[in-house]
Amino acid sequence: MPIFIDGHDSKVLTQEDMEKLVNLPPDEFGVTHLELFFSKTDSRLYCILDAPDEESIWKHHEAAGFKCDFINEVHQIKTEKTVKTEKMVTLGQMSSNISHDLRNPMAIIKNSIDLLNTKYKDQLSPGILEHLARMDRSIFSMTMMVNDILNFARTQPLHLEDNSLTKVINHAISTIRVPPNIKITLPQNDITLKFDSAKLESVFYNLIINAIQSMGQDGNITIKFIEKMDDKIQIQIQNSGPAIPDDLLTKIFEPLFTTKQYGTGLGLPSCKNIVEQHYGTIHASNNPTTFTINLPKHIEKLLSVDRT
Ligand SMILES: Nc1ncnc2c1ncn2[C@@H]1O[C@H](COP(=O)(O)OP(=O)(O)O)[C@@H](O)[C@H]1O
Ligand SMILES: [Mg+2]
Repeated sequence: MPIFIDGHDSKVLTQEDMEKLVNLPPDEFGVTHLELFFSKTDSRLYCILDAPDEESIWKHHEAAGFKCDFINEVHQIKTEKTVKTEKMVTLGQMSSNISHDLRNPMAIIKNSIDLLNTKYKDQLSPGILEHLARMDRSIFSMTMMVNDILNFARTQPLHLEDNSLTKVINHAISTIRVPPNIKITLPQNDITLKFDSAKLESVFYNLIINAIQSMGQDGNITIKFIEKMDDKIQIQIQNSGPAIPDDLLTKIFEPLFTTKQYGTGLGLPSCKNIVEQHYGTIHASNNPTTFTINLPKHIEKLLSVDRT
């Protein structure tokens, strides 16, 4: 039978009265008292009851002439954490639907801006061209936010193939507007490894965008690939921007944490999800600001262990 908890005003009921009820055989409504607690903080008496349903406990109180303030089924009691998780799931679904629906109209606006900029450039005044450039920049930021939300919301299975890390990093960089005074130094060595190239590209994209945003208009980004002894490949993305405060080094990977006015706080959590899907780890450190990813050299071995 389900277990319930109820609460009474303990000024009306004494502890002695109630203790007599504990572990008596079930009453005519099938209700048994299992335990009692008196709380001095809120002058309340809480009972743990075994009963067929909530209705039978209300009837049990009515018959005994006791007033009861509330009855809750124990397994339905929600902690602050479960309520928060449920809210996050609902919000996640809602924002991912909205983001998905925004993609088409945004693509139309972007195409129209491109068309005006190319086909009608000669007919437009410098003032209008400046407005078009602002619209273009805004669409670019909106696209980044929508991508953050969509990448975070969907966890699709990995599509593993042998890929070159350099190729994927280069592809990520080619989609980013890198300010002219920001220099990106790529590793001299390349590493071929089994991974999901679209997903890892979005990790590099996010880390490089974050690095650029932290430095502003000038600075250096250095990317390193290191083959470790313990069957791991390490990727480091360093930048010459300001340090991340020590107490935020792990917090920045939590969903919705952002220090930016128009940030989503979903970029790093989505990087973490992707890296962990590859059985890897990611962490941040300072001096210089570095994001370090460790990936297994042979993901296929770990996948086959997981399947057994
Ligand atoms: N390279 C970096 N240098 C300094 N701070 C960073 C860097 N990358 C991320 N951060 C911090 O981590 C936060 C979370 O990043 P992210 O999850 O990508 O969300 P968003 O970019 O939308 O803020 C950022 O707001 C910023 O405070
Ligand atoms: Mg980001």
